[in-house]
Amino acid sequence: MDGESPFPGQSGWNEGLTHVPQYELVLLANVGKPDSHTLAGYQASGGYATVRRVLREMAPAQVLNEVRRSNLRGRGGAGFPTGLKWSFLPAEHPGPIYLCVNADESEPGTFCNRVLLEHDPHQVLEGTILSAYATRARVAYVYLRYEYPLAMERLERAIDECYQAGLLGQNILGTPFSLDVYIHRGAGAYICGEETGLIESLEGRRAWPRIKPPFPAVEGLFRKPTVVNNVETLACVVHILQRGADWFRSIGVPPAPGDLGDPGSFGPKLYCISGHVNRPGCYEGPLGLTVRQVIEEFGGGVRHGRKVKAVVPGGLSTGVLGPDQLDTPLDFNGPVRAGCLGLGTAGVIVLDETYPMVEFLYNSCRFFAHESCGQCTPCREGTRWALDMVRRIRAGRGRLRDLDLLAEIGNSIGIIPGTTICGLADGAAWPIKTVLARFRDELETHIRTTNPSGYAATEPVPALDWSDGQPPAGGAGDGGPSPRGRALGRAETSAPPVSLPAAADPCQQGSAVAKNAPGRSPTAEVAAWPPPSPESSRG
Ligand SMILES: Cc1cc2nc3c(=O)[nH]c(=O)nc-3n(C[C@H](O)[C@H](O)[C@H](O)COP(=O)(O)O)c2cc1C
Ligand code: SF4
Repeated sequence: MDGESPFPGQSGWNEGLTHVPQYELVLLANVGKPDSHTLAGYQASGGYATVRRVLREMAPAQVLNEVRRSNLRGRGGAGFPTGLKWSFLPAEHPGPIYLCVNADESEPGTFCNRVLLEHDPHQVLEGTILSAYATRARVAYVYLRYEYPLAMERLERAIDECYQAGLLGQNILGTPFSLDVYIHRGAGAYICGEETGLIESLEGRRAWPRIKPPFPAVEGLFRKPTVVNNVETLACVVHILQRGADWFRSIGVPPAPGDLGDPGSFGPKLYCISGHVNRPGCYEGPLGLTVRQVIEEFGGGVRHGRKVKAVVPGGLSTGVLGPDQLDTPLDFNGPVRAGCLGLGTAGVIVLDETYPMVEFLYNSCRFFAHESCGQCTPCREGTRWALDMVRRIRAGRGRLRDLDLLAEIGNSIGIIPGTTICGLADGAAWPIKTVLARFRDELETHIRTTNPSGYAATEPVPALDWSDGQPPAGGAGDGGPSPRGRALGRAETSAPPVSLPAAADPCQQGSAVAKNAPGRSPTAEVAAWPPPSPESSRG
């Protein structure tokens, strides 16, 4: 093990596990080796050999084509095909193109980006260089979750090492290709991970997601064509170019027969497992392992020998599966077929048979109500209303009718019903919908037994006030959405703000940390291009 485990007392890696026969670690291959986070350690394992070869032997279009042929799908949650996304960039674009590395990782139950950045940051940087080369980006921003200080420290050091070794900066390895990489620390809001929220935050504003289209590939960071990719996605790019698209497609699950729109679920995947298991951690296997395999083999089974009650398959926003659904494959189709939002981040959270689902629902509603940015009324009000109802149910003042109202909220907020700008609202809805679909009996029993005189009431009931000793809405503990007042996506600033018109908003003071690229201002690249006119920018 390379230094400290991110999960003290846990094994955390695949080490010694033999349950996935013939599976050779790819993404975690270096993790656990001495100095895996240093340039020397990475190069000792063959690191940067792919960049050296690709920059000399392949044209950017060939790199893009190989990634496209691999059918790599984004690991950040939506599973969009990476090569296809890159191909949306306008050909022959004369100005800058940006690459944003999404390291915000704020989906509950998800920590695989953290493992890569802390223990193998050069793998992520090599993927970043290759992806920037393919997309013709000359500047890359790593948008890093603030709560990852060790990742920050190691990534910063890794970037410095790359500049010193000629792997970043002007004319990388003596080729015409140049790339600067900056780290930008987010301030810890979930919405900063949504790609257009991330872009807004990078520009120094609140991370309010943008209405799409235009999509970032056409108009993204600083209104220029931009690709946003997840850390794990970029790590996969290294191996696709090292071993080829055919190798990549030999791992995982092929497209569903007869489904011409399904690109399959190929390649290695990091699975996070947490909750009531014996061995929480981040593990690697081929895409398509079943939930049961992840729990039993990686997680070491349920704690205290108990049974599974419910499992979140891919981060909280994907919803829950019931105990009869443990053979669901964790590929891009499996959780959808089982009635969840999708594979998400493959962040598996296990709840054992003793855990009350009203508590799960309460935690979920608290999270999403707190994290809603407040732009869209259905999300802002719906998440808050759901939280108020679940809090009342939990406090023994629920009505059976509340479950129907919760279902109505769950079915009406989100991009899928077409009522909101971004997918946060869908993520808020799926835990509600799936808990109601699979655990309604338990909730009904809870309501009947805790509110015997009022469970059948149908008349409106006022929401609880916070005189029950809990923190008020909008407070630190159980906050409501506090819509427009929260300065989402803020962080401290070490550089003058980019002179975009909207940056005059006083709420944005102290909006971004951008580091690295020695001797350069993080905004230099932007300053070299005319800022958008006030007419063309959003206020
Ligand atoms: C509310 C919300 C939060 C998100 N958070 C993250 C995140 O923390 N990390 C991430 O990579 N993608 C996140 N995404 C997905 C991104 O919008 C985007 O699809 C992704 O970064 C694209 O990278 P990929 O194609 O490599 O997956 C989030 C999406 C939504 C709707
Ligand atoms: S869906 Fe929610 S989080 Fe997303 S933009 Fe609308 S209000 Fe903000």
